[in-house]
Amino acid sequence: MRAVIVGPGVMGETLGGAFRKAYPAEELVYLGPPSARRTELSRQYSAGEATYPEEVGAVDWVILALKPQKAQHILPLLRSLLQPDSLVLSVMAGIPLSYLERGLHHPKLVRAMPNTPGRIGAGITVWVAQALTDEERTTVERFLEGLGASLYVEEEAYIEMATALSGTGPAYVFLFMEALTDAGVHMGLPRHIAEKLVVETLLGSVLYYKHNPKGAALLRYEVTSPGGTTAEAIYHLEKAGFRPALSRAVWAAYQRALSLRPSLP
Ligand SMILES: NC(=O)c1ccc[n+]([C@@H]2O[C@H](COP(=O)([O-])OP(=O)(O)OC[C@H]3O[C@@H](n4cnc5c(N)ncnc54)[C@H](OP(=O)(O)O)[C@@H]3O)[C@@H](O)[C@H]2O)c1
Repeated sequence: MRAVIVGPGVMGETLGGAFRKAYPAEELVYLGPPSARRTELSRQYSAGEATYPEEVGAVDWVILALKPQKAQHILPLLRSLLQPDSLVLSVMAGIPLSYLERGLHHPKLVRAMPNTPGRIGAGITVWVAQALTDEERTTVERFLEGLGASLYVEEEAYIEMATALSGTGPAYVFLFMEALTDAGVHMGLPRHIAEKLVVETLLGSVLYYKHNPKGAALLRYEVTSPGGTTAEAIYHLEKAGFRPALSRAVWAAYQRALSLRPSLP
């Protein structure tokens, strides 16, 4: 088993970690422009380094973790690495399977959308595949589990939707946490106390939700006493357009994800 990760960036690091978890002893190479970062990742994950595809040789897995704008240039150069059974896994936002197939002249493809918590094995990766055997699908699933939860979907269109919901999602949550912490500070709480209250509230609420899978709305009704403090707060959030603002933001991210799709050559 030989694998190459094309793009030794943030996602390249995350995917290197997942690869090592699944395959502690198999051969891995980082392909990308020479940099201190490439060297550091290669050291961290006991991998080789290469600047040009011709230095790599044939591989079983090609993992594409570079910016989508680079796809058109790089894909044809990677054809020489592929054998009929090689598997290509791309996390590039906005690059469809059809584009990958045309660029690589290769059918065995996986398109995945991970998110940042994958860096500590707590992410969610939505993925779609084509021309894979059941055994290959199981292998991919095992690999992606190194990033946290994984969800296989049949519809490729769901990938752009996942980009806007779970791919971008951590940023919504961080913004919410920041705003809630500031609200605590505004009342007079020291920042470190406000931060701790916010983090533990979020963590506890998610765990509680997972233990009581009756839906977020019912759980919220249970903590909203008539005329109470929660009802007062929720009233003001709704009045300020919290729900439509979130919905519009996710829709805008989805439209942006769709617009990233390159025109097919
Ligand atoms: N970050 C996330 O949370 C996340 C989540 C889901 C999907 N993604 C997807 O993951 C991909 C990578 O994102 P990222 O955040 O990891 O970006 P990044 O940190 O900028 O990484 C891109 C890497 O590709 C390298 N590179 C540039 N040109 C190359 C070439 N011709 N051949 C090989 N490598 C090349 C860059 O090297 P230099 O820096 O030296 O140019 C850099 O190391 C994107 O397509 C993005 O849509 C990212």
